[in-house]
Amino acid sequence: MEKIEINGNVWIKFKGDEGQDVYVAELMIDSEKVLGKFADPESYDIVIDSDTDFYLPSNDMFDKDSLTEDRVAFKFRKNVFTSEEQSGAFEGLFGAAQESHNRGLAAGPRNFSDHSRDWVTPFQKEVIRYYETRNAYDIVSDKVEVLRKEYENSIQENRGGVWLRSKIEDEFGSLETFFETFIERISEMSLDDAKKYAKEFKEEFISDTTYANSIWSGIAGFYGRYPRIPYGRPTSYTDHHRETFEKCYPFARKLDAEFKRMMPERWARQNEYVKQVDNRFIIGEDTTFTTITVNTTTTTRNARMAFHRDAGSLNNGFSNLTVITKEGKNWQGGYLVAPEVRVAINVRPGDLLLVDNMRVIHGNTPIEPPETCEKDFLRMSLVFYFREDMLKLGSWEYEITRREYVDSRRLNPSHPLWRKHWNGVSPNMWYEKEWYDYLSSKLGEEVLKKYHPESVETKSSGLESFFGV
Ligand SMILES: [Fe+2]
Repeated sequence: MEKIEINGNVWIKFKGDEGQDVYVAELMIDSEKVLGKFADPESYDIVIDSDTDFYLPSNDMFDKDSLTEDRVAFKFRKNVFTSEEQSGAFEGLFGAAQESHNRGLAAGPRNFSDHSRDWVTPFQKEVIRYYETRNAYDIVSDKVEVLRKEYENSIQENRGGVWLRSKIEDEFGSLETFFETFIERISEMSLDDAKKYAKEFKEEFISDTTYANSIWSGIAGFYGRYPRIPYGRPTSYTDHHRETFEKCYPFARKLDAEFKRMMPERWARQNEYVKQVDNRFIIGEDTTFTTITVNTTTTTRNARMAFHRDAGSLNNGFSNLTVITKEGKNWQGGYLVAPEVRVAINVRPGDLLLVDNMRVIHGNTPIEPPETCEKDFLRMSLVFYFREDMLKLGSWEYEITRREYVDSRRLNPSHPLWRKHWNGVSPNMWYEKEWYDYLSSKLGEEVLKKYHPESVETKSSGLESFFGV
C-alpha cells in the first residue's frame, strides 16, 4: 500500500484483484470552488492511464475501510470494446449529433425563404437579442411584430448560426412552429425570466462558433414526457434512423455486461427500475439503458464541458462513458477531470469509464488535434444511462396513443381549441372525456381503466348524482 501526498492532498493506492490500481481519495474539494469552471492542468494532480478503481472518502468514521460500490467515483478499464463494436456504435450514433454541423458556412449568403429553416434568420436573432438585452425602459408591447416587419425581406447572412434540429424537435415537437412557440412562451415572462430564458434558448438550440461555450451534442434512444411533448417516445434521431441506430446494440450490450460485472449492486438496482419500463423503451430491449448522450468534437465542433454534475439519470444507477473515433482519426487532450479529488482520466477509443456522474463533478480539458499530422480529428463521447422520468411512462402502445391524440388535435382545424401554431396540448387534457373516448376507441375499455381509473369513477359518480343517489 502506497500513500501519495501532493500539496497536502492524500491518496492511498494499492493493487486490486484484477491487477488494476485502486485509489482511495482522502480529500474532497468544496464544489463551490469548481462548478462552472473549465478544466485545466491546475485542476488535477494525478493522471489515470491504466485500469483503475477510484473510491471517494468515507463519511462514516467507523467504516472507513470498507470499499463499497457506493463509494466508487469511477472504474476505468482499457480496451474493453472490439473495433467492430466501436464502429457499430460510431455508425449507429454519429448522426445523432449530425444536425449540429455548421454546414454551409462557406456557402455564401442565401435567402431564408428557400426552405433553409436550419439557419437562424436575422429576425429570429433580433428577437432573441431583444429579450436578452432588454431593460425596463425598452419594453415595447409589439416589438416582435415591429421586428417581423423590419426583417420581412431581409437576406440571410451566412453567419447567423444554425438551429440544432433534433434538439428542437425533442423540446418543441415541431420545426415549423418552434420559434412561434418560443415567442409565445417568452412574451408571458417577467423581464428577468425572459432574459434568462433567451440566453438559455440561444445556448441550447443554436450552434454557432461565435457563441462561446456551445455544446455539440445530441440524444439517441428514448425519452420521457415533457409538458409540451406529453408522451414517451424515441428521440427524433432514433425515430427517423431506426435501422442505423440499432447498429449500436452490440456495443450497448457489451457495455451492459461489463457494468454488471464491475458494479453488480448498482447494476441490480438499475435493473429493478428497468423491469418497470416497457422494454421497447430500453436500448436493445435487454440492456439497462434508455438513453444515450452523444457529444462529438472535430476541428469545427467543440464539446468542451465546464465542470458540472449530470441531472436526469437515475440516482441509484450509474452512467457509462465511452469514447470512440472514426478509424484513422485521433486526438489528444480531452481528459475527463474530477476536480474534487484532483484526478484526470485519459479515456481513449475503446476504453470504458463507469462514473457516478450525478455525484462526482466532472468536465474535460480541451480536445486538440494529434501532434503527428493533419488537423483532422474526431472524438465522439457516448454516455449511456437510464432516465429516471421513464418510470412514469405507460406501455409503448399507450404512449403512442398519447402521441397520436396530440397530433390528431394539432392537425384538426375544427377542434374547438385549434389556433395557428397550436401544438395540440392543453391544460388538463389527460383528464377529459375527449381523451378517455379517444383512448378507449383505440385501445379498449380495459386500458382506459388501467391508466385512468378516475374516468370510470367520474362516470359513476355522474350517474349517481343524475339519479339523485
Ligand atoms: Fe456530464
